[in-house]
Amino acid sequence: MKSSTPHPVIPVNQLQSGMYVVAITRQSGAMEIAQTGLVTNPKQIEALIRRGVSAVQVDLSRSKLVSIDQTLSPEPSPAITDPQRPGASANGEGRELKIRRLYQEARALQGKFIRQLKAGEPIDITPLAAVAEEMVDTMFSHGDAMLCLARIRAKDAYLMEHSMNVAILLANFGRYLGLEHGVLKELTLGGLLHDVGKIMTPDEVLNKPGKLTDEEFGVMRLHVVHSHDILLATAGITPIMLEVAANHHERLDGSGYPRRLKGAQLSLYTRMSGIVDVYDAVTADRVYKQGMQPTQAFRILLKGADHHFDRELVTRFIKCMGVYPVGTLVQLSNQRLAIVMQRNPQEPLKPVVKVIYHTGQRHYLEVQWLDLAKNGVQERIESTVDPKEFGINLANFV
Ligand SMILES: [Fe+2]
Repeated sequence: MKSSTPHPVIPVNQLQSGMYVVAITRQSGAMEIAQTGLVTNPKQIEALIRRGVSAVQVDLSRSKLVSIDQTLSPEPSPAITDPQRPGASANGEGRELKIRRLYQEARALQGKFIRQLKAGEPIDITPLAAVAEEMVDTMFSHGDAMLCLARIRAKDAYLMEHSMNVAILLANFGRYLGLEHGVLKELTLGGLLHDVGKIMTPDEVLNKPGKLTDEEFGVMRLHVVHSHDILLATAGITPIMLEVAANHHERLDGSGYPRRLKGAQLSLYTRMSGIVDVYDAVTADRVYKQGMQPTQAFRILLKGADHHFDRELVTRFIKCMGVYPVGTLVQLSNQRLAIVMQRNPQEPLKPVVKVIYHTGQRHYLEVQWLDLAKNGVQERIESTVDPKEFGINLANFV
């Protein structure tokens, strides 16, 4: 899967020595740069950034890297320190590490689960159920930090990332709706497992960059049936988990699949999972396409309200994610870019942000935490910004 696309387009800040650049795909300004070939030192990358290049296309087969996999799967950088973070303390740091570890653990368990399924080995969901419980608990104690993790994406591990994110988003949405703790746990585990049937979908269909043919789409749609069948044969699966897996592509007007359920046949959990699944799918970066910004994704959901999605639930989902969802890159009034880190329910337009970049000078800044609601803080958010415009990889900062 990792090398199914030979020439991926990547943000320039993911470029590394040893990569072979075949084309500059995005740059600001009129100056044309024809510089392609093997990157032999970091200065070449800096020069590209200085000249406004924000994305390049690389030929992985001609690249001389130790591990392409690692290169294209950005992990959060532990090197970034946040000296000015409000309330930064040994405990705070410990908590962040704990949440990261939980995320990694859930991913690892999920990977193991998928491998076991593929190998036809007996499967046991007990460890995943335990991790789902911990995820729900953490959503209550540190919801924003969990949502931040949902912004970390590795393009070559899409299935796992997507499932993790759907689980986190369902836990968050369910908590907002006031669902009972046991239900939240089932929804979260349902989210982790909802697309498991995709292991039966051939890679060439699953990862096809272009539009699917009718026949390929038919094959793709079968993943829901596979998910349902796999889970039905698995011990410990509850009706709510099955529902999330079997119905997340059903739509209110009966245009969904596989059973073309309609109206009242779609339960609350089915309706929630449809919204969350689409939100994550359209905001996801894939090797062959860039993800939308959260605000654009909200627009897609609102456009589908009434015929595809439950309007009331879409509205509540948007409210629960906030005007500026955690992990959104925003432009501040003083030419600085910042990432939304913590929502502010009292003043949604003034979240806590992490300032990282100067748009005028086009360079990174020393990371600074800023509570926009705090007395005396003059900066305000002017707009949301597409991180790719500046070649910024959010995963390095959240
Ligand atoms: Fe799906």
